[in-house]
Amino acid sequence: MRVAMIGSGYVGLVSGACFADFGHDVVCVDKDPGKIERLKQNIMPIYEPGLDDLVESNVKAGRLSFTTDLAEGMKGAQAIFIAVGTPSRRGDGHADLSYVYAAAKEIAENLDGFAVVVTKSTVPVGTGDEVERIIREANPSADFGVASNPEFLREGAAISDFKRPDRIVVGVEDDRAQAVLEELYRPLYLNQAPIMVTSRRTSELTKYAANAFLAVKITFINEIADLCEKVGANVQDVARGIGLDNRIGSKFLNAGPGYGGSCFPKDTLALIKTAQDNESPVRIVETVAQVNDNRKRAMGRRVVAAMGGDARGKKVGVLGLTFKPNTDDMRDSPAIAIIQTLQDAGATIAAYDPEGVEQAKLVLNNVEYCDSPYQALEGADAMVLVTEWDAFRALDLSRVKSLLKSPVVVDLRNVYRPEEMARQGLQYSGIGR
Ligand code: UGA
Repeated sequence: MRVAMIGSGYVGLVSGACFADFGHDVVCVDKDPGKIERLKQNIMPIYEPGLDDLVESNVKAGRLSFTTDLAEGMKGAQAIFIAVGTPSRRGDGHADLSYVYAAAKEIAENLDGFAVVVTKSTVPVGTGDEVERIIREANPSADFGVASNPEFLREGAAISDFKRPDRIVVGVEDDRAQAVLEELYRPLYLNQAPIMVTSRRTSELTKYAANAFLAVKITFINEIADLCEKVGANVQDVARGIGLDNRIGSKFLNAGPGYGGSCFPKDTLALIKTAQDNESPVRIVETVAQVNDNRKRAMGRRVVAAMGGDARGKKVGVLGLTFKPNTDDMRDSPAIAIIQTLQDAGATIAAYDPEGVEQAKLVLNNVEYCDSPYQALEGADAMVLVTEWDAFRALDLSRVKSLLKSPVVVDLRNVYRPEEMARQGLQYSGIGR
């Protein structure tokens, strides 16, 4: 099947490359000529494990190509995906749909023969209706369907999430659109991935509900972690103890410095706005967003406390900057608020991250970026582990001890065992233990 993917960001590029790998003919479109030029040379705009190989092999096989020309990209396509960004609108947190609507209008002007326009971007309930209206207004004689098909992939595991999803959600209002999407995803349900067909609005809301629920789960365990510290309990054991109950499930119960990234912070805010506009507030999600925001700076204060309550003139070695491992994404990373809090308290920062430094430089000032975790710890008054990159899981602890000026270690991801750290003579604190 011919597929056009409008928007070659995270979701568009990964989905486009994976559809091509299933044997479909995919053209990825993006307005950014630099990005398209680099993609043609197999230079990825993001760091995502395995993506460059996947793109390269499908380009070679002639199933994947890139263009800035939307009209050319959608020629003959039966499915036209909108996978452009939906950032938080400045000021009120609503999803900014201007890129989605602009794409819909341009698609309308170039429609020729039946095609399904599918929103893959995370879009608020009712966006599909508006996309349909825009297309009909711009091109009254067009033959088209509009569907919703949210994406549930995680950065860092995007390809395997796309190829082995827990489920595929498709929101349609007509049979022809359903048939096209079922045909497109046939390779996946041969893999036994359940495909769920719902109404368009249900599908749109399902995406927000999924991300909001995961944000609730993380924030819940983070608050339980704080309570564990007060009462002398161990949050990892509590998480295991509740997670083994199938009704709760063991995933997304790792306590940490608060969730970040390009999705949870933005999508929780957008859901809160939609709910308020419909006079059906989601108070749990409102609280979660607030608790999570406060938590990030609180983690910075925790480091100051670990250094004896005074950070002035002290140096902190920060390991990990990205919002999670296996990505270079710094969007809403807890590291930003943590480092700024430490700087506000008078500390200087030396940091190491395997992939995130270029992005970090755009959002953080006055940070000394180092070439190895050990370099960041040289002469530091404390080490803080913010992101659980594999490279930090087996540090040479006696080297860590000898590099640090004072042996303070704050592990915001519970990577290390307290007994082991104590044996090394390190003053160690984790989260909720
Ligand atoms: C998230 C969802 O997991 C995907 O299903 C969804 O498709 C995606 O958003 C999206 O809407 O595009 P992602 O933002 O890539 O994916 O990252 P996650 O792995 O979900 O992690 C989000 C944040 O939660 C990270 O900061 C992570 O450190 C934190 N987290 C996650 C925890 O603190 N504890 C956990 O147990 C799990």
